[in-house]
Amino acid sequence: MSEHKVYPVPESVAARAHVTQAEYEAMYRRSVDDPEGFWAEQADRFLDWFEKWDTTLDWSFEGDVHVEWFKGGKLNVAHNCIDRHLAEHAEKTALIWEGDEPDQDQHITFRELHEQVSRLGNVLKERGVSKGDRVCLYMPMIPEAVYAMLACARIGAVHSVVFGGFSPEALKDRIQDAEASVVITADEGVRGGRKVGLKANTDKAVDQCPSVHTVLTVRRTGGDIGWNDSRDVWYHEAVEAASADCPAEPMDAEDPLFILYTSGSTGKPKGVLHTTGGYLLYAAITTWYTFDLQPDDVYWCTADVGWITGHSYLVYGPLANATTSVVFEGVPSYPDASRFWEVVDKHQVSVFYTAPTAIRALMREGDEPVTKTDRSSLRILGTVGEPINPEAWEWYYHVVGKEQCPIVDTWWQTETGGHLITPLPGATELKPGSATRPFFGIVPALMDTDGHVVEGEGEGALVITRPWPGQMRTIYGNHQRFVETYFSAFKGCYFSGDGARRDGNGDYWITGRMDDVLNVSGHRMGTAEIESALVLHDAVAEAAVVGYPHDVKGQGIYAYVILVKDAEPSDALRKELVNLVRSEIGPIASPDAIQWAPGLPKTRSGKIMRRILRKIAANELDSLGDTSTLADPAVVDELINNRVTG
Ligand code: PRX
Repeated sequence: MSEHKVYPVPESVAARAHVTQAEYEAMYRRSVDDPEGFWAEQADRFLDWFEKWDTTLDWSFEGDVHVEWFKGGKLNVAHNCIDRHLAEHAEKTALIWEGDEPDQDQHITFRELHEQVSRLGNVLKERGVSKGDRVCLYMPMIPEAVYAMLACARIGAVHSVVFGGFSPEALKDRIQDAEASVVITADEGVRGGRKVGLKANTDKAVDQCPSVHTVLTVRRTGGDIGWNDSRDVWYHEAVEAASADCPAEPMDAEDPLFILYTSGSTGKPKGVLHTTGGYLLYAAITTWYTFDLQPDDVYWCTADVGWITGHSYLVYGPLANATTSVVFEGVPSYPDASRFWEVVDKHQVSVFYTAPTAIRALMREGDEPVTKTDRSSLRILGTVGEPINPEAWEWYYHVVGKEQCPIVDTWWQTETGGHLITPLPGATELKPGSATRPFFGIVPALMDTDGHVVEGEGEGALVITRPWPGQMRTIYGNHQRFVETYFSAFKGCYFSGDGARRDGNGDYWITGRMDDVLNVSGHRMGTAEIESALVLHDAVAEAAVVGYPHDVKGQGIYAYVILVKDAEPSDALRKELVNLVRSEIGPIASPDAIQWAPGLPKTRSGKIMRRILRKIAANELDSLGDTSTLADPAVVDELINNRVTG
């Protein structure tokens, strides 16, 4: 079975890598034996500080839960990602923008990046934005998205990037929660030849957001948009008029850098808050070691800036290391299934980082779209966002990488800021489907259902027992929810929500979420959010949403819907429900299957037994488990008989 395959580190990779296996072991040991000494050294090595910190670490994962790194230290993220590189790298390309159409691209040097970010920083200041104020970004994948993140960091404003695929309703919720005063957007985004009305969506959202006084709009397509003189400003006009002199604001290491909303098992998405010093250090060091960065790398992470991967591994990590980072506006299938590999050849990409869902979708198109390209510039391949099945891993390794490129399967989360469990190219034997070993300073453990630590080989809930610099500090505006969500399941530990297995060699295999969070095409979604959207419809009495295995998306969305007494099921109603979810959350949350259900399997105390719903959706009818505790066991047969295929 491919699960047992092991790919040793090629000698050629180990010879040149930042760390070999022995060096990894020694450095890991040091990082957990003397975490403060280790991280203080790395903070000096990877970052430029205006003032040294007073305390390296102050933390507790119990009681008054808090984590503070490098408190009292002063630095600026934009200074670290741009200014300090100017002496040696002013003319080096910082960003390569590859547009949706293959004939559109642009190279932006660190000098140009510095000018654009400084001008925009001044625009924000002129519009009254100061340190600590929130700025919402609802942008396509264009260089201005990166300028905007760095401009906020430069002046000490806190950015909240909202993925451009979210609906006006979802955007509104996020703007309101963060009380943002400015939104930066574009007239329209372009993806796969199709336009997305970002400004129109912003207008709808902002009409319900009294905190917003300014909307800055980048002209991307020149399409028709609405205009409100009292709040709308053209990005290019404002930036042209602004000064290019904008000093980088000295920030405390623990000052907030950004908020990023992510889904949990209950309630509305939560604003994950990351701070300045620890986050940047962790993004920088993980990018350096995981991708074994070399000075002339052209590094391409295909994630959107609307997700944490876009934050840590498209913007902050690579730029902190003065690495050239590719910003891709389009999709892997446009104009055809060779696009990724043609871009690799065109820009001579050496490090390529994408999601298993994209690999699986491309694998279905066969080898030819890949093999007709050259790809000899590639050195390292990476994956992120969901478990990668061994078949997709092998295809990525043999066909895309021509057996020349180690694959780093990086396990982490929005909350963790950066990679927690990942191979390092020169140090780790690869096993298809395993995220392998913890990164420096990361102490994982597996817990059984009684809350006891599982030693050696075994399976359990994946927790982290010690703090690390890149971890989230709180949920914006709701510290209590932070404590309850992450630190209450297992005393004194950060609970990731994932399960994992550890094999006899100490390698970790992530088994997936243990809670009601779905991972659809690498997009994280709460079942509760989708259920809340469905029950907004007058015809719906109750809804239960679960995930089920899906060949390309990893997980598909399966909704059980109970209608009110007089409502009739119909295809038209099914469409209305899908549209409702699209308008409440966005197209990424559209259910793949909707089953009209007479009732739900509930315990006598009224709790929905989701385990049973998951099994029915997955068509695993032999392993339904015990149904005797149900209030009405007959409902299970009815659900099985009317099961729909997604
Ligand atoms: O279930 C894990 C899965 O994605 C979740 C985190 O999602 P999000 O916060 O959106 O961040 C995605 C980018 C890091 C995790 O709880 N996940 C992420 N990476 C992997 C993974 N599952 C298995 N293997 C991975 N490499």
